[in-house]
Amino acid sequence: MAGLFITLEGGDGVGKSTQAALLEASLTEAGHTVVRTREPGGTDLGSEIRSMVLHRRGHIAPRAEALLYAADRAHHVETVVRPALERGEVVLQDRYLDSSVAYQGAGRVLGADEVRDLSLWAVEGLLPDLTVLLDLDETASRSRLDSSRTEYDRLEAEAADFHARVRHAFLDLAAAEPDRFLVLDASRDRADIARAIGDRVRELLG
Ligand code: TMP
Repeated sequence: MAGLFITLEGGDGVGKSTQAALLEASLTEAGHTVVRTREPGGTDLGSEIRSMVLHRRGHIAPRAEALLYAADRAHHVETVVRPALERGEVVLQDRYLDSSVAYQGAGRVLGADEVRDLSLWAVEGLLPDLTVLLDLDETASRSRLDSSRTEYDRLEAEAADFHARVRHAFLDLAAAEPDRFLVLDASRDRADIARAIGDRVRELLG
């Protein structure tokens, strides 16, 4: 495909949105057409799924949760991501299938391989060209979250051991696919992080 597909991953509160905004601004300034989007919730249908999966009160069975994220992803990729890549644009996306492997596979203990296969089926095998993993230990990300929120969604409200499993699953994914992942220490200065991401993206854009 002609475009470039970049995803940002990491725990809650690590600074993905800040980095996405900085990268979008610098790519737009350099003349690229950027589609900035997110999962869950990058489409109208996805917004409905997002409010169900994050804000519905009461229990959601872990397999149902995994299927809701996969449904959001299938619709988003078919209607937004693939068309933009086919037009040759840069898709800059907050979270993708690695989040499902980390949160549902490791956090909910459904198993990494099955959850990955479910997502790959949903998106007909589409993988990002680059995945930026912003890594932060769960105590630091929790304190960042606590300083910016008064209410937590269903995933943010999970206990520390859930978030520790999520973090280690992301690091395992990055170690298994070193060419796709750029792992950065999210406690670094935000301008340094932006520079490191920008350098890698410029390499990919040639
Ligand atoms: P965010 O968009 O504010 O980061 O919130 C999305 C939440 O959903 C976050 O806690 C991570 C979680 N999530 C999953 O559990 N599985 C997924 O596949 C995705 C995309 C997100």
